[in-house]
Amino acid sequence: MKFVIIGCGLIAGSHANAIRSCNGTELAAVCGRRKEPVFKFAKEQGCEAYTNVETMLDEIRPDAAVICTPTYLHPEHVEQCAKRNIHVLCEKPLAKTPSECRRISDAAEKGRIIFMTAQVVRFWAGYAEIKSMLQKGQAGEIHMMHLRRVSHRSGEYSQWIFDPLLGGGAMGDMLVHDVDYLRYAIGPFQSVYAHAVKDETGCYNNVMANIVHKNGVHSLAEVSFTQQTGYPFSFSVDIAGSEATVEYQYASGASTLVNHSGGTCAVSTCNMSIWKRGEGFQTVPIQQYDAYERQLQYFADCIKKGCQPEAVTPKESYEVICMMDAIRRSADSNEVVYL
Ligand SMILES: NC(=O)c1ccc[n+]([C@@H]2O[C@H](COP(=O)([O-])OP(=O)(O)OC[C@H]3O[C@@H](n4cnc5c(N)ncnc54)[C@H](O)[C@@H]3O)[C@@H](O)[C@H]2O)c1
Repeated sequence: MKFVIIGCGLIAGSHANAIRSCNGTELAAVCGRRKEPVFKFAKEQGCEAYTNVETMLDEIRPDAAVICTPTYLHPEHVEQCAKRNIHVLCEKPLAKTPSECRRISDAAEKGRIIFMTAQVVRFWAGYAEIKSMLQKGQAGEIHMMHLRRVSHRSGEYSQWIFDPLLGGGAMGDMLVHDVDYLRYAIGPFQSVYAHAVKDETGCYNNVMANIVHKNGVHSLAEVSFTQQTGYPFSFSVDIAGSEATVEYQYASGASTLVNHSGGTCAVSTCNMSIWKRGEGFQTVPIQQYDAYERQLQYFADCIKKGCQPEAVTPKESYEVICMMDAIRRSADSNEVVYL
């Protein structure tokens, strides 16, 4: 199955590795705006390089494309693929606004393509384990769920991410991971009250979104892009349930390993603990794997079977972007926003 990647910046490498590692998929070409980085990336990946999306799609005629361009370009690039009947895995957030989400799902439907938003957290080992626990009812009735995701603003992020209109900083770009996971793990949203603080970029780079779900469960999604330099990119999940308390923490590159020759490398730390009612504390072993590879394999299998992905649906992505819009309106107005 021939894949191309549209956009070859920060996240494209994870998808390129996934395409190269999965069964039956190959990376045929990549496209970016600037010649030099695209040719460098393509050389490393052993594929063709392009600086024009439509030329690449017409010459390569791929089966599928992974869209890794800035979020505000997703509608345009999905449409270019869909009108050529090329299946699409599109990076998160699916779009900036609910109406752009509709534009994307209309194009995907019209082109009869297999389509999925790349919400990689749903495929991430710890989060997948928690979803399975919740499905089996192991935490009982959920009183509260708290998701946190924090990072410093390293130089590897592009400028558009910290433009309030294009990327929206932590609120526009990073919070969507947790909002999407809450939709997946707990269910549809009812309302939100958001506390958020803008920094010098003009973006809400510190956000606490207090969410009420339609089933009455309360959750809190917290993100920050203002940690001090050197603070590891970290995320966590806390669940207070009637049958169990669950804690999951991941910190990227948080520890240093010294090898036999005295060299060092940064390693990530990952822990999950559960306190079951009447049973006390247990550590939950988390199988480690590449979530991007899992996601890509799942998507490629859907193409092979000719069935739309159930793991992330356009309807869910639309609801998530409606919630993202509600969070921004709540932060702007300091009022509860109902969906
Ligand atoms: N899943 C994750 O954890 C994760 C992490 C980072 C970014 N993302 C998402 O991935 C997307 C890309 O983010 P990024 O940080 O990699 O961005 P980036 O700015 O690093 O890279 C964007 C790429 O798109 C290319 N591009 C821009 N305009 C183009 C055009 N008109 N035609 C062709 N190529 C064009 C650029 O040349 C660049 O190669 C965003 O939607 C972002 O939210 C997801």
